[in-house]
Formats: sequence, C-alpha cells, structure tokens
Amino acid sequence: MVNICLIGTGRAGMIHGRNMAAKIKGGKLIALCDPSEESLTNAQKELTVDYIYKDYREAIENPEVDAVVVVTPTVCHKEIVIAAAEAGKHVLCEKPLAMDEQECLEMIQAAETNNIKLQVGFMRRFDESFQEAKAIVDSGAIGEVVLVKSLTHGPSEPKPWMYDISQSNGPIGEVNSHDLDTLRWFTGSEAISIYSIGGNFRSPEVRAEYPDYYDTVSMNLQFSDGKLGAVDGAQYVQYGYDARVEILGTTGSVLIGDQSKHKLVVANQQGEIVRPAMHSWTYLFQDAYVAEDQAFVDCIAADTEPLVNGYDGMMAVKLVHAGLTSLLEKRVVQID
Ligand SMILES: NC(=O)c1ccc[n+]([C@@H]2O[C@H](COP(=O)([O-])OP(=O)(O)OC[C@H]3O[C@@H](n4cnc5c(N)ncnc54)[C@H](O)[C@@H]3O)[C@@H](O)[C@H]2O)c1
Repeated sequence: MVNICLIGTGRAGMIHGRNMAAKIKGGKLIALCDPSEESLTNAQKELTVDYIYKDYREAIENPEVDAVVVVTPTVCHKEIVIAAAEAGKHVLCEKPLAMDEQECLEMIQAAETNNIKLQVGFMRRFDESFQEAKAIVDSGAIGEVVLVKSLTHGPSEPKPWMYDISQSNGPIGEVNSHDLDTLRWFTGSEAISIYSIGGNFRSPEVRAEYPDYYDTVSMNLQFSDGKLGAVDGAQYVQYGYDARVEILGTTGSVLIGDQSKHKLVVANQQGEIVRPAMHSWTYLFQDAYVAEDQAFVDCIAADTEPLVNGYDGMMAVKLVHAGLTSLLEKRVVQID
C-alpha cells in the first residue's frame, strides 16, 4: 500500500484527494496539508485521514507517508517538491511543473538524486479518447503527423492574481500548458519556434492596470522534424468548458472532443433536441484524473518511469515561456 499525503486541498486538490481516498487500488490517503483553515476544514468534512498538517514541512517528516500529491498554487511547487524529494517521498505534482525552466531543472535533479518518482499532472494523456487517438496515430493509420491543433476555452472569470502576468505566466501557463504538452505528445517531437498573438477582450476594466494581461491567445509552432502545431486558448468564454484536438496526418485525421456535455442529449417540451454544453474540466476529465492517480501509485509499486515525467513538465514550461515572450515582444521566438 502506498500511503499518500495531499498537499493543497483546494479545487484541483480535492479531485486527487477523493480519488486517493476511495478509487485507487494500492493507494491510501492518510494525510492532508493546507495552511488555510477553511480549505483544510472543508477537506476534513469529506475525507477521513489519520494526519492533518498546516505546514508541508511537518507532513513530509511523517515516516508513514510514502508519496505526496502537490496541488498548491504553481509558485509554491518548486519549494515543496524539492523538500519532499529530499525527504524521500515520491511526488505527483500538478501542472505547470513550476514557474520557469530553471526551477524545473532543480526539481528534476532533486528527484534523481533522491531516487524518487516525479510525475506531472498532465491528466489529458490519461483520458480514454486521448489514449485511443495516440494509439491510432502511432499505428500509422493517418500516415505521418503533419499538424496538431489543440484548443482550450475556459468559462470562468480569471482569479485576480492571473491578471499579473509576471506572477502567473497567465493562461498560457495555467491552462494552455496542457495544449503545449498535447502538441509534444502527438507530434513526438520538440518545438523549435513559436509565434503568439493575443489580447484582453473580456476584462476591459483591468487594461489600464495590467496592460499585458491577455485572455485569448493564438500560437503557431514548428517542430524540429518539420511538423506544425497550433494552440487556441481563451479564458472567461462564458459558454462552457471546451477542449478539442485535431491531428492531421498525410492520409487522414483524428478529432478529439466536441463542445457538448458528452453522452447527453435532451429532448424538451418545445420539441427541441438540445445537447448541453460541457460546463467544467472537472467533469470532462474526471476519469482521466482517476487513471492518472492510479498510474502514479502503480509506477511507485512497480518501480517504473511515470508516463508523464519531470522532463515533460520542464519542456512544457519552456514552451510556456517562449510563447509568452513571443506574445509580449511581438516576434517569433526560436527555441534551442
Ligand atoms: N490538471 C489540471 O487541469 C488543473 C486544474 C486546476 C488547477 N491545476 C493546478 O493545480 C494547482 C492548484 O490549483 P487550484 O485551482 O486547485 O488552486 P486553489 O487556489 O483552489 O487551491 C490551492 C490550495 O493550496 C493551498 N496552499 C497554498 N500554499 C500552500 C502551501 N505552502 N502548502 C500547502 N497548501 C498550500 C491553498 O490554501 C489552497 O487551498 C495549480 O498549480 C494549478 O495550475 C491543474
């Protein structure tokens, strides 16, 4: 049994907490950690654990804890992951792995030095449709991959800290790092250049204070083997949560996702057939999170490499920075 401590019991943290408490074979949630009294109290109401901590440094000293799931704000990831690695705990860290490439490198080194697993939370790779698409692409059924397009539109009003791009990297980091990872995964290649354009279309009231804030971004990438990539990102779209991928090959294409709440069609009194829009990533990817958490516990038990490792986390962060630099400096950025 792999004993788990959840560090960060907020929105995404509780998804992992619920999974680890009830759905993961070979894993057991034994501890919760969060400095926020409110967050911790809410988590305790739902999850029964043996240990409660407000300071992650105390949590990782517990010899019964084998592994931690780090779901704190991104700015805290580096410090917590390195401390956990040094305490010999395996780590599943939410995406984006860290704020910049240097932080990621230090985290990877700490994991290697202390011989612990470091998995990064790109849960889309564990989604059934993504996995099937990957198998189709790898089988050669659509020929050679030419172009991968990934779109993520989120419904919610940005949290206040997101407006300050220097603190958050903005939506490219917090959301579109998923799309950048998707491009790397389906092309099987690394990007050599990126060009981003974007703007703030939905929060005009913050334009004066945060002139660099963007809620919409369009990115074009070229990969080292000539393949092409495109990311379409938008926040606060208000119509629902929208995540779609198109993989164009030389002899076919694969589409993942649509705008509807999958599997649901409503016939109403007005004689209409309505397909409700997808409302949340927590619903769309709920099974993917379970598969991701199961894979983490399994790779510890079997002593195998995580499917999404620290290197994948670092390369996505590298693309986040290149994409953001391109957007701010209005130029094509070459990636070494
Ligand atoms: N995989 C995904 O699709 C996905 C979705 C949402 C969020 N995330 C990522 O998860 C992370 C958390 O995001 P969220 O939306 O859950 O944020 P959140 O604000 O809802 O929750 C963060 C929690 O971390 C706690 N926290 C802050 N500092 C801490 C510390 N030092 N030690 C322990 N806990 C601490 C906060 O009190 C809060 O309860 C971010 O990195 C975010 O990018 C990933």
